[in-house]
Amino acid sequence: MQALSFLFVIAAVISFTAAQTHQRLGGCPDLGCVFPPDQADFLPGQFFDIRLEVHSPINGSEARVGEPDPNFTFTIAKKGHEGVPATKFFGQDEPKLEHWDFSWYEDRFAEDAHTPSVVNVTSKIFRRVALKEPGEYEATLTYYGTRKTVANWLVRKVPTKRRAKNVILFIGDGMTTNMITAARLIAHKSINGKYMTKMALDKFPVLGHQMTHSMDSFITDSANSATALYSGHKTTVNALNVYVDSSKSPFDDPKFETIVEIFRRQHPNAGVGILSTAFLADATPAALTAHTSKRGEYDHVISTFYEGLTNYTWTEWTGPDVLLGAGAENFLKSEEASREYYDLFAKKNYNVAWNKTALQKAPNEDKLLGVFSKSNLPVWLDRNVYTANLLNKTNYPDGSGRDADDLPGLKEMTLKAIDVLHQRSGKEGWFMMAEAASIDKQMHTLDYDRALGDLLELDDTVSATINKLKCMGELEDTLILVTADHGHGFDVTGSVDTKYMEAQHDDRSKRNAIGYYENSGLSQYTVGGPNSLRYSEGVHFPSHWDPRYTLHSGVVAFPDHRENYEVHKDGPRTPAVSTKGDKMGNIANYKDAVTGYLVNGTLPVDASQGVHSLTDVPVFARGPCQELFGGVINSIDIFFGMAECLGLSESK
Ligand SMILES: *[C@@H]1O[C@H](CO)[C@@H](O)[C@H](O)[C@H]1NC(C)=O
Ligand SMILES: *[C@@H]1O[C@H](CO)[C@@H](O)[C@H](O)[C@H]1NC(C)=O
Ligand SMILES: *[C@@H]1O[C@H](CO)[C@@H](O)[C@H](O)[C@H]1NC(C)=O
Ligand SMILES: *[C@@H]1O[C@H](CO)[C@@H](O)[C@H](O)[C@H]1NC(C)=O
Ligand SMILES: *[C@@H]1O[C@H](CO)[C@@H](O)[C@H](O)[C@H]1NC(C)=O
Ligand SMILES: *[C@@H]1O[C@H](CO)[C@@H](O)[C@H](O)[C@H]1NC(C)=O
Ligand SMILES: *[C@@H]1O[C@H](CO)[C@@H](O)[C@H](O)[C@H]1NC(C)=O
Repeated sequence: MQALSFLFVIAAVISFTAAQTHQRLGGCPDLGCVFPPDQADFLPGQFFDIRLEVHSPINGSEARVGEPDPNFTFTIAKKGHEGVPATKFFGQDEPKLEHWDFSWYEDRFAEDAHTPSVVNVTSKIFRRVALKEPGEYEATLTYYGTRKTVANWLVRKVPTKRRAKNVILFIGDGMTTNMITAARLIAHKSINGKYMTKMALDKFPVLGHQMTHSMDSFITDSANSATALYSGHKTTVNALNVYVDSSKSPFDDPKFETIVEIFRRQHPNAGVGILSTAFLADATPAALTAHTSKRGEYDHVISTFYEGLTNYTWTEWTGPDVLLGAGAENFLKSEEASREYYDLFAKKNYNVAWNKTALQKAPNEDKLLGVFSKSNLPVWLDRNVYTANLLNKTNYPDGSGRDADDLPGLKEMTLKAIDVLHQRSGKEGWFMMAEAASIDKQMHTLDYDRALGDLLELDDTVSATINKLKCMGELEDTLILVTADHGHGFDVTGSVDTKYMEAQHDDRSKRNAIGYYENSGLSQYTVGGPNSLRYSEGVHFPSHWDPRYTLHSGVVAFPDHRENYEVHKDGPRTPAVSTKGDKMGNIANYKDAVTGYLVNGTLPVDASQGVHSLTDVPVFARGPCQELFGGVINSIDIFFGMAECLGLSESK
């Protein structure tokens, strides 16, 4: 017993020195915190804030140190030079001292027992500083007399010469190589193991491999990862372009500039396009302009599209030239939206389009806001194959309660955006981010058909974009990237004979419908249909979605659910349902796959969906600077590569 409790004490002490799943504050392993933290990289001239915190744990297992230090000091040193007080280094006044306290749970036991540990904090923040001279810097916080937290910062030596006029960043949210392989299998005909056609992605000259880990956890969410892709800074889950400090406000955290803010600051007439098949306040579009520790602050997100940050003068933000997607609920004044944003955008000379016809008719000279439905845009499969699922959704974006039935997809939005950006930006060039959001959203709900349909729509969009730019004479001046922000643990391990499965009456016999290795057979999704389509380069989708032999697809982590491996013709899947109230959490939704069998979940029972996974994700690149994106790279290298290509470095 004695020995055991001794061991326990050691384990408890060690857990505070090593990284752990519950952290007092991510990026701050010590009692003194410097944000940007150790190992942060910067583009020369990129604006950022510096948050300093000194912690004094009040209770919990960390030793007490007394009052949080009000007299901490902070110096910056270029490598090989003496440290200089930050006030002198940046020519700013000493920031005022702030005080607060916060609480956190040390582990799952503390969470169950509702015993948070309380911490008192002293803090200061420097706003809007920049480092222009490339090299290594040491930022040193000295507190409690002699304690030090050192952050090693790297201002990358990024060439200043601009090499691309335009940059297009396509993000297949949650898209992995495994999904691309499955999409190719269902949409492209092969003969004796050889594909007769290729996907647009297959033809890119450069392929890289991107590591997505976040600052303080190895699994990222889309806010955190989009932040890394657009700003070069890794942060915490749920954060958009800030390092998360321990204060209560989701708006006072230390911020850093994004690619579009830098581009517009340097080139006021440069074009900016933000497109998504998700609701526009969602993380991937939001991360171009929002700065908050809570991605759920949707009103903040829309306000930053509209007017940038109002309480910090980062840059004169005049809004994107093109903003296309869904999520009408965040534009119509309501409990969620503080203002009637449609009117505000219109007053700022935006055309506002609510359907595909209006989108295509909008003049290319004017700024364009297109919001085409409430919530997320219906997916490709429902817009093109199972169109009855568009009915009775009362999702028309004007809030009238009609159905949105004249809907554009990613391709229509992207092609129109290029016209507007090209017309408006002239020689200054443009940046566009276009997100295929529902690859991720449908993977979450284990609806693999809908996810792969949207992946094929992305591929078709990329192909149409390349053709359009070629016709416009802009292709050789445009860097095109196609990547993802994280993956899901998806793969295919064979095929399923759905007829055999339906004929079996117990769960164990039903599993015999799965054929693996030689019994996988060949893809049945490309059988039939016009042959010309199957062999020509062009638009490729499955010729039908409900063959007898379907894919045996799955992810590595999921809730309780049922599987019959058939396309869900009646609309997107709901794999698990809440048992409301009792402690059972979420259980399999019987109606979701009546003819299938039960698969017990592998996630905590509070999860009703699948979750993101660890895998690296692919990066496809073509155009100027394409070579910067090959090999194994980090998520933040996407930002640095795009910034280099657009000549955004202000290196001295
Ligand atoms: C902080 O500095 C002031 C002024 O030198 C001193 O009076 C005070 O005792 C110091 N406080 C702590 C907690 O060290
Ligand atoms: C710390 O103090 C707070 C407030 O008094 C209390 O709610 C909490 O349970 C305490 N935590 C621990 C770990 O003792
Ligand atoms: C420290 O936190 C406790 C608990 O919230 C609070 O009562 C106390 O005033 C704080 N002390 C300081 C110096 O901020
Ligand atoms: C910044 O603006 C937001 C939203 O307008 C506001 O809630 C927040 O308090 C402001 N923060 C600071 C530090 O002024
Ligand atoms: C499309 O939008 C325009 C402009 O709001 C409207 O006049 C038209 O009726 C809409 N068309 C459909 C099919 O909803
Ligand atoms: C839509 O609603 C109408 C009227 O309530 C109903 O008759 C119709 O069957 C519904 N259609 C679908 C596809 O749910
Ligand atoms: C699912 O889990 C339950 C216990 O939670 C168990 O009784 C049942 O046999 C399991 N079913 C399968 C198909 O694994």
